[in-house]
Amino acid sequence: MRRLLVTSALPYANGPLHFGHILEAVQTDIWVRALRLAGHECVYVCADDTHGTPMMLKAQAEGVPPERLIESVAAEHRATYADFLIGLDFFHSTHSDENRELTERIFRALDAGGYISRRTIRQAYDAEAAMFLPDRYVKGTCPRCGAKDQYGDACEVCGATYTPSDLIDPVSVVSGTRPVERESEHLFFRLAAFEPMLREWTRSGALDDSVANKLDEWFDTGLRDWDISRDAPYFGFGIPGHPGKYFYVWLDAPVGYMAASLALARSRGLAFDDWWGPASTVELHHCIGKDILYFHTLFWPAVLRGAGLRLPTAVHAHGFLTVNGQKMSKSRGTFITGRRYLDRLPAEALRYYFAAKLGPGIDDMDLSLDDFVSRYNADVVGKLVNIASRCAGFIARGGGRLAAELPEPELYDEFAAARSRIASLYEARDTATAIREIAALADRANQYIDARKPWNLAKDPAQGASVGAVCTQGLNLFRVLVTYLQPVRPAMAERAGAFLGRPIRQWDDVAEPLLGTALAPYVPLATRLDPKVVASLIEPEPAVAPAAAAPAAPAVSEPATEISVDEFNRIDLRVARVVAAALVEGADKLLQLTLDVGDEQRTVFAGIRGTYAPEQLVGRHVVVVANLKPRKMRFGLSQGMVLAASSDGPGVFLIAPDAGVSAGMRVK
Ligand code: MSP
Ligand code: ZN
Repeated sequence: MRRLLVTSALPYANGPLHFGHILEAVQTDIWVRALRLAGHECVYVCADDTHGTPMMLKAQAEGVPPERLIESVAAEHRATYADFLIGLDFFHSTHSDENRELTERIFRALDAGGYISRRTIRQAYDAEAAMFLPDRYVKGTCPRCGAKDQYGDACEVCGATYTPSDLIDPVSVVSGTRPVERESEHLFFRLAAFEPMLREWTRSGALDDSVANKLDEWFDTGLRDWDISRDAPYFGFGIPGHPGKYFYVWLDAPVGYMAASLALARSRGLAFDDWWGPASTVELHHCIGKDILYFHTLFWPAVLRGAGLRLPTAVHAHGFLTVNGQKMSKSRGTFITGRRYLDRLPAEALRYYFAAKLGPGIDDMDLSLDDFVSRYNADVVGKLVNIASRCAGFIARGGGRLAAELPEPELYDEFAAARSRIASLYEARDTATAIREIAALADRANQYIDARKPWNLAKDPAQGASVGAVCTQGLNLFRVLVTYLQPVRPAMAERAGAFLGRPIRQWDDVAEPLLGTALAPYVPLATRLDPKVVASLIEPEPAVAPAAAAPAAPAVSEPATEISVDEFNRIDLRVARVVAAALVEGADKLLQLTLDVGDEQRTVFAGIRGTYAPEQLVGRHVVVVANLKPRKMRFGLSQGMVLAASSDGPGVFLIAPDAGVSAGMRVK
């Protein structure tokens, strides 16, 4: 048995949990649950990250003490995680006694080890608000390209990086006045002292190769001292022996992992040093997003080592979530909070979709709302739950008991034997492949039932025994599949376990089939997602219809309200010939098509990659909406839309014009 302590990144306590947070927590939770099914001891902790300037200013703006703000946010975070079935053993706060105690202890150890130096720096200061300004709290005109309203660290227009004092006409975001420069003494952590240790740790198996390579770049640029202090006013912990100075939020934030486990250890009477002491044999795994790698793979291990503590066993990073191909953004309505989703839809549907799309690497992941609906309805409702619902009724009518033996034990054994492979896919965080393989098994189970046709057998009273046998086989295959999905859909697994009269506790539960036992009444295990409800996750924007926000949305599933002939005539439909087709890197649904529309060539992105390989398309004729306003997508400009048909099921099918057409013909 392995012993593990697992964490996901601490969300900032100044706002609700959004889909990016949920993705991370779901990925971590699936991993933890899979390891538990394998019999390992896995403790999972997290906390709110409560300190820093944004927190202080937000509380000021709301006219409440920061403590009040973080309390109410913590309540929201806890409830949201719980409703997404995140199996945390403890959720704590960085604004806690445990965190203060540990942060101070660590700082003293670093200081005693000679890893803290002092230096006076010049920094932007808001005289009106009487506070030093972080770079992002100064705005002004870019000194390089002249773009207005740029942050004090970098220009979003030309990409130049600089300090706030380089800005032309700088303004403090806090008071609107012009900042001045002021000197102040800061404390620095000497990161470079740990370079040899970090280089070794990086290649110890702690990191994915792609991440380790990124670190090599950072080593090459050189490790600079890290400023760990901030001046008052600041919401955080004061630095002992340095009046008016506070620990920078990123120093005490990862200590929050320790604080959460310390609070847990105290509440359960466990030994904290078992987890964090230098001789710990427990594995320590941090799950984070790729944006905070520097903190977790350089600063944090160095701080731990400097303080005489253990190092993380591994840091696992994931990529960023986009919604309908775009960065989550409040102005586009694609900034979806966990609560907005939970108010409309079941947690396990999203868990399933994230699982189906996530791999072990740091690739970004897109949540396409159309794909979410069709994938979930096809895989979970259409394939998986269908097996149970088709078989349950026949067993109930035949006395409610499973048959005493399986008609096809080899088929069952094959399903059960897949458990070690499924377990190792989960362990390797390759949930996308795990889900694919489970779906393939579900197909086979459905094929089995389709071939035996219990509904036909049931019409013949002489066949009563074989109906029971076929459905016993079907339900046993179903039980294996539900067990394999338990990390992703734990509540469904629990309900299925209750229905089958045998709870699901570990992978090995499926070693033997369930025979001769009584079943509880069947309860529906999943229901279809309504595309209209899913579409309402995105807040309506007056200017752009939701369909237009989807990447090359080929499928229009809603019958629109009536339009006039004139309105129809405004749509310029034309025959086009596919001149070239290519995969789009970073978009697993899209193909980039070069189309000959008669008088010119166009580039169109179409969401048909799941159905067509690029080479199948070259030379084909398609129908294109030629006067669609060009749309800027992450991958380039899409100049039109290709017509295609789809339903809830998998597959998006191009509408092909008949023989005899040529590129440029009008479609009427
Ligand atoms: N408070 C810090 C983490 C401290 S850990 C000691 C922080 N907070 S955060 O709220 O901004 O982000 C928390 C986690 O959510 C990070 O791992 C971050 O990568 C992840 N995500 C935030 N937005 C995301 C997406 N759009 N997609 C996927 N994950 C993203 O950073
Ligand atoms: Zn610029």
